Amino acid sequence: MDLFTKKTEKAGGRETSGLPRHIAIILDGNGRWAKKRGLPRTAGHMAGSETFRRIATYCKNIGVDYLTVYAFSTENWKRPEDEVGAIMKLLDKYLREAVATMARDRIRMRVFGDISCLSPELQRLVAETEEISSHYEGFQANICINYGGRDEIINAARRYAEDYAAGRAGALTEESFGAYLYSAGIPDPDLLIRPGGEQRISNFLLWQCAYSEFYFTDVLWPDFTGAELDKAIAEYRRRDRRFGAVKNP
Ligand code: FPP
Repeated sequence: MDLFTKKTEKAGGRETSGLPRHIAIILDGNGRWAKKRGLPRTAGHMAGSETFRRIATYCKNIGVDYLTVYAFSTENWKRPEDEVGAIMKLLDKYLREAVATMARDRIRMRVFGDISCLSPELQRLVAETEEISSHYEGFQANICINYGGRDEIINAARRYAEDYAAGRAGALTEESFGAYLYSAGIPDPDLLIRPGGEQRISNFLLWQCAYSEFYFTDVLWPDFTGAELDKAIAEYRRRDRRFGAVKNP
């Protein structure tokens, strides 16, 4: 089985200029999607993980370089134990399939987050996917697990301070600090998409989204399609990104 292509959607020959290089997505709306169908919330997460496969394939096919998704936050541990267990099981299943297929498909995968409190088996799978990824170039999917933007920044600050005290780090700059984040070496997201109707950032990529364009939609994540992504990209293309400067002074 292909890691991303249980159901491949085609880009249909669309031109790629102005394409965001890095897209970040907050996977939201799984629970409501399931409730609408009289199903347990865990069925929504299962559908959501299939949508991730399809959208990752779609991104790869249209030429996006990086896709970063928020799968499990540092706050999501507050959810009922059976729901947390079901999400961990889905992540385990997904990473297991990734280990088996990503070398063949030349897909890189990274996990962002504090993985030290995940099960030893999940930790092993994360290490294995990252090891395989280190041998390839090309499209990269980043899955955020036990991730929080504030936690990431504090963790980076702590590690920088340790390195500085030990004489291993120089002056603190935005660039040097970026090297301590989970996203080290990866360009900031150009486009942040939040499906599911809420319009907030929920502690996702706080540092990296400083100049990202935000796109919100009421579509629930399991219903999100390549056509929805096209809409978000079309909107992104209409934005005037100035990064704090003026265009024609
Ligand atoms: C938010 O929707 C979704 C989550 C907290 C979990 C997302 C996890 C997955 C899709 C499973 C595995 C992921 C991958 C990448 C393989 P919600 O439950 O808050 O939805 P609601 O707002 O409708 O209740």
